[in-house]
Amino acid sequence: MCPAFSLVLTRIAFHYSLEADSSRERMVSTQQATVNLPKHLGFEELIAPLCVKEFHNVFWQKRPCHVHGVESKFRELFSWKDLNDLLESHHFAHPRLRLSKDGADVAPKQYMETLRFTKGNRADSWGLTREFADGASLILQHADEFHPGLQLLVDALTSALGWHAEVEVIAGLGSSNALPIHVDSNDCLVFQIEGTKRWRLYEPTRTAPLRASKMFPDRYDVLPAINPDSERPTITFEVTAGDFAYIPRGWWHLVEPLPGPCLSLNPTVYTPTIQDLLRWLVNELSIEEICRFAIPTDAHEQQSVLCRVADVVNRALVPDAVSTFRRFVVNEMEGKPSISLPASAMGRQQVSLSRSVTIDGGGSVHVTSDNDSAIFRVRWRGRDFHFERQHLEVFRGLNDGQSHCVSDLLAGCSSAEARIRTIAFLSTLQREGIIMVIP
Ligand SMILES: [Fe+2]
Repeated sequence: MCPAFSLVLTRIAFHYSLEADSSRERMVSTQQATVNLPKHLGFEELIAPLCVKEFHNVFWQKRPCHVHGVESKFRELFSWKDLNDLLESHHFAHPRLRLSKDGADVAPKQYMETLRFTKGNRADSWGLTREFADGASLILQHADEFHPGLQLLVDALTSALGWHAEVEVIAGLGSSNALPIHVDSNDCLVFQIEGTKRWRLYEPTRTAPLRASKMFPDRYDVLPAINPDSERPTITFEVTAGDFAYIPRGWWHLVEPLPGPCLSLNPTVYTPTIQDLLRWLVNELSIEEICRFAIPTDAHEQQSVLCRVADVVNRALVPDAVSTFRRFVVNEMEGKPSISLPASAMGRQQVSLSRSVTIDGGGSVHVTSDNDSAIFRVRWRGRDFHFERQHLEVFRGLNDGQSHCVSDLLAGCSSAEARIRTIAFLSTLQREGIIMVIP
């Protein structure tokens, strides 16, 4: 458990040394001063003395960044004790927990055990320690799910960078490379807690190459990036305790730990690509009749259909499409569960005229409808829900992240039967967890 954050950071004067070659690393060095981090963790403090505006303008999705910090800068974010506690108290299965050595995965049977009674898998402490001592690096994915301090880090990154993030913990003794030279599917950040790693970075051999990602598994590039010349890195820097680094998607890298215990947090930011947006749009456009047609045989008809499709796509690609897609993606992410038994089950409020309701979590959800269909679709946490079109206006009325009196939502109902149907509709939304009744 991480204590309330009073992370001691250092900053004062800093200088930039921008090399003549604009593709070179831009270095930021710090001298000392102390800043107490508030309980909320801010991206600004994490990357100081580099400012967030400059990070976005100069580095984000453009080129790598390395910011020096004092050795203790990230120590209270996560510790070896935190790692040991997580490994002891959770049954992490492969590949969430994996070991890698000399660029290849260590066979899970070398360090995982199947429990006799529960049949679950977990790290075998003896095997794990042996492989670790022999030079394997430990990689724990999505560690933020189990650690409140890392959840704060994820919140800070998601808020500053606009898209969902998660944190990977990497630990080792600095005796072998965990991975061979590679590119990642997403933008990667590094917060070095202990030890030093030499990062060799190679500029992209293909601009913004597409690789399947956990959040976007269908992402695909028909012309993959070719390997760079491993002998000629574009940038080399040593990331040591207290340093922050950023590696944009598409930059090749080879990470070589220097001898000694090495512990780092390596968050991934799942920024969607234009292809991800187009792939989503392809499904959404199934509401357009022309997109459901078979391709005609006749050449003139083909031409006519293609013109209509082009018109449909053009009308869909308005600036609003990005914010709509963002709402869709955000709601697809796994949210933190909120369970407060027994009170939440015993005191469950029913939908009634005297109550107010809101979308669960206080946001808004993605809704799809057309003029022909008798139903509309609500996309909620990875599932499609379909409701009768008569309830569409009520749903739109409450789909704004605000709370609404049920009596107000019923104002448009023209009869007692309509009000009863609407109450039943709202009760269904509540039962599915899409809305909550405010106590
Ligand atoms: Fe990587």
